[in-house]
Amino acid sequence: MRIIGGESRGRRLKSPRGRAVRPTSERTREALFDILGARVPGSRFLDLFAGAGAVGLEAASRGAAEVVLVEAHERTAGLIRENAASLGRPAGVRVMRANAAAAVRGLTAAGAKFDIVFMDPPYRDRAALEHTLAEVARPEGILAPDAVVVVEHDAHAEAPAAAGILVTARSRRFGDAVLTFFTPGRAQEQSMAKAVYPGSFDPVTNGHLDIIERAAELFREVVAAVADNAVKAPLFSGDERVEMLRAVCAHLPNVSVAAFSGLLVDFAAEQGASVVVKGLRAVSDFEYELQQALMNRIVTRGVETVFFMTSPDNLFLSSSMVKEIARLGGDVSRFVPAQVHVRLEQKFRK
Ligand code: PNS
Repeated sequence: MRIIGGESRGRRLKSPRGRAVRPTSERTREALFDILGARVPGSRFLDLFAGAGAVGLEAASRGAAEVVLVEAHERTAGLIRENAASLGRPAGVRVMRANAAAAVRGLTAAGAKFDIVFMDPPYRDRAALEHTLAEVARPEGILAPDAVVVVEHDAHAEAPAAAGILVTARSRRFGDAVLTFFTPGRAQEQSMAKAVYPGSFDPVTNGHLDIIERAAELFREVVAAVADNAVKAPLFSGDERVEMLRAVCAHLPNVSVAAFSGLLVDFAAEQGASVVVKGLRAVSDFEYELQQALMNRIVTRGVETVFFMTSPDNLFLSSSMVKEIARLGGDVSRFVPAQVHVRLEQKFRK
């Protein structure tokens, strides 16, 4: 385990051994701090369920003015102190050995305020997550007016719902981990319209999931809509495609999945959605998408098509390519979520 950025960049940290502690992976930690960006320098940072302290100490390295790390287990809290010592005891770092919810109550009573709260409770302890989030989310509690709260949780479990004064701002998935960001109030008013993201999803790929996650950040609500009859001979039935999409979107609280047949614009109107989201990959997509977007505008007024440019990794990724490779025995695990990979293997194993 290393510090990734800031003053102590590259310095090694001790990780807990022999206990069921799961430190936030480096990839997730890097993404977390990329998203937090300029919020970190000068901030008051609270790291709950801190483990060996990688997240809180990363915040200190990146210029947080005050960092409180809360860890309930004596030995693990000792490890945070050792790690802080090995970084030269950064100023403003404080370790509290306490239960997370109790620590939040204590800090609230003492009048402490935080700009950033990060919590990574054990995945199996859902009650601890909900209980602690409720304490953090109290009105007149520990949150500064423009605070952000980030919860790391299991991608296979339901996303934590908004609590107290907190509303969900965005969610990002990294393998089995999801980071869900909350902000106090307002965020929902700022977000835009409801959107429909239509497709055949035969099957859903990482490219689709990337567009859905990005759309979910921008729109109030996103309906991933499975076109029942857009493909002549689908590999997966409509129900299977809906099921897979639901499984891979479980971590996104403002995304729902539905099947539709008939015209897309009619479905969008039925849903009260004013935006159709599409992904654009190579130039070859453009003509077809332009044609559909213009047709949809002619057929109905009031629905706007918004294009998301694909991430470079997915430039040439398509469901048909994935099916072809899987059918011929190739490895498609890099292109599709794990749940879809399993279903493809089942289809072609016979
Ligand atoms: O994933 P796909 O196969 O590229 O998705 C195509 C889809 C489902 C978006 C498109 O075929 C569609 O919108 N079908 C619904 C019927 C419809 O409204 N057709 C007119 C579009 S101009």
